[in-house]
Amino acid sequence: MRVPPRLAAAVELVDPAPDARVLEVGCGRGVAAALLVDRLPRGRYTGLDRSATATAAARRAGAPEVLTTSLAEFRPEPGAFDLALAINVNVFWTGPARAELAVLATALGPGGVLHLVYGSDGGAAPRLDVVDRLRDHLVAGGFVPEIGVPTRRGVRLLHVRAAGAQER
Ligand SMILES: C[S@@+](CC[C@H](N)C(=O)[O-])C[C@H]1O[C@@H](n2cnc3c(N)ncnc32)[C@H](O)[C@@H]1O
Repeated sequence: MRVPPRLAAAVELVDPAPDARVLEVGCGRGVAAALLVDRLPRGRYTGLDRSATATAAARRAGAPEVLTTSLAEFRPEPGAFDLALAINVNVFWTGPARAELAVLATALGPGGVLHLVYGSDGGAAPRLDVVDRLRDHLVAGGFVPEIGVPTRRGVRLLHVRAAGAQER
């Protein structure tokens, strides 16, 4: 499977612990899933996407656990995940994403961290005009975001790392 550089860069940036329980939101065709699973010898990967076409492709690509659901309708066990990751999922800046962030706050246990990563493969810089909206939405959702624009594997990424407010 061809791996777009932005996905390899995003997974390298997020760098989950080998025993992490990882939730990928908007897993698409499961390309990042394969990279994540390789990094989780003692952990667990769950992907979700609202597109049944995408989740069918992710299952065919070998992703171990994939759910067809919108994030807002997902009902995880509280604290079921240590790390949540979304790559190029726009719902967090197109609107307040209250329901989506509430689900993630439930899904992440104590010490859990949410990563939102945005970037493209064509060498274009990520959109920075969405940073203020991302920050405002995450703070309103009870998260404490740290926002940076790192470069990995030659790809410039917009990276939001957000802990739950109670973790600080
Ligand atoms: C731009 S694609 C990115 C796919 C993959 N993460 C990547 O970077 O190649 C966004 C994906 O997120 C999914 N998605 C967007 N909003 C979602 C939501 N609220 N709940 C679940 N999936 C969502 C879409 O169906 C789509 O597969």
